[in-house]
Amino acid sequence: MIHGKYRKDHLPARIAQELAHVIAFGPVIFQVTRVMLSRGIFRLMRDRSDGITPAEAAEKSGLSEYAAKILLESSLTLGTVLYNEGRYSLSKVGWSILADPMVKVNMDFNHDINYKGMYHLEEALCSGRPEGLAELGPWKTIYEGLPYLTERQKESWFGFDHFYSDSAFDQALPIVFAGRPSRIMDIGGNTGRWAMKCVSYDPDVRVTVADLPGQVAMMGEQTAGCPGAERIDAFGTDILSGTDTLPSGYDVVWMSQFLDCFSDTQVVDILERAAAALVPGGRIFIMETVWDRQKYSAASFDLAQTSVYFTVMANGNSRMFNAEDLDRHICAAGLETVAVTDGLGYAHSLYECRPAVPDR
Ligand SMILES: C[S@@+](CC[C@H](N)C(=O)[O-])C[C@H]1O[C@@H](n2cnc3c(N)ncnc32)[C@H](O)[C@@H]1O
Repeated sequence: MIHGKYRKDHLPARIAQELAHVIAFGPVIFQVTRVMLSRGIFRLMRDRSDGITPAEAAEKSGLSEYAAKILLESSLTLGTVLYNEGRYSLSKVGWSILADPMVKVNMDFNHDINYKGMYHLEEALCSGRPEGLAELGPWKTIYEGLPYLTERQKESWFGFDHFYSDSAFDQALPIVFAGRPSRIMDIGGNTGRWAMKCVSYDPDVRVTVADLPGQVAMMGEQTAGCPGAERIDAFGTDILSGTDTLPSGYDVVWMSQFLDCFSDTQVVDILERAAAALVPGGRIFIMETVWDRQKYSAASFDLAQTSVYFTVMANGNSRMFNAEDLDRHICAAGLETVAVTDGLGYAHSLYECRPAVPDR
């Protein structure tokens, strides 16, 4: 269901031409904007209604006046700041950069995780491997490397991951618990945040978190001592190993931002295995950020760009789904969709699925 808005070219010619130039200097303006933020220059402008001089920007940022002018003039011609009689102030774009938490999370993620690796995009597209990942470490996928990232890289990766899914968890709970599940398996449960929400929401439910062994070890550390943690079990597994069998007997199998980590054929295989883990009448809940089910074009944009991270940094072969592809995978795994709820958190859609009843 890719929106009709992508059919027509709506931009006036001059804006289109300017955007082309912005793209050509994309890496430069990204870094300039990031430094304007990290050195507190945007914040200083926000707090000073009459604007600031380059000397004041230099003093605040601890940079030379030369450096401050470089940043300010780049920002001015980009459009994040305005100029009036020797003083610089924030434009609406500058305000949005400062005020929108999603922009902050995306910038940190792009700088600390993606920036250097993106140089290898073309190689990754050709080889089907995440060729940029070598910039971070010697792993086959980023998921194996998560426990070994630097603290700052971890903060940015988990900040990005949690920002998107955390915002949707609370809204998903009543939908998942409407069927009164007593056993839930969270595949790709990461640091156990959803599992913790479940055991707080329902005093009887038990949750198994299945994830890579390094991840479930981190999950154990993060949940230890929290109320309800004794009802969370860990199952360390590489879902791609082909030999590990998932545990079974679950009323609900939950997968949040998990299937987008795998190729098309792997997704179908994982869904089949998830279905085999269900008790009769059980449900599979898939929570994904489907890029063409978004209300706002900025969200569609962010998600489609995140697909490129999967190509270059994560695993080389997965992406943020469009609705048609995800529907096709669900169907190919012998499942049918009972309901889809859009608009959870910032950008999530929740698919409730069950094994399809064969035609009589
Ligand atoms: C994008 S995170 C999603 C985490 C969490 N479910 C959420 O919604 O925030 C994907 C998770 O899948 C796990 N994962 C990736 N590849 C895996 C594999 N081959 N086997 C098991 N888990 C894997 C990662 O370790 C990570 O915890």
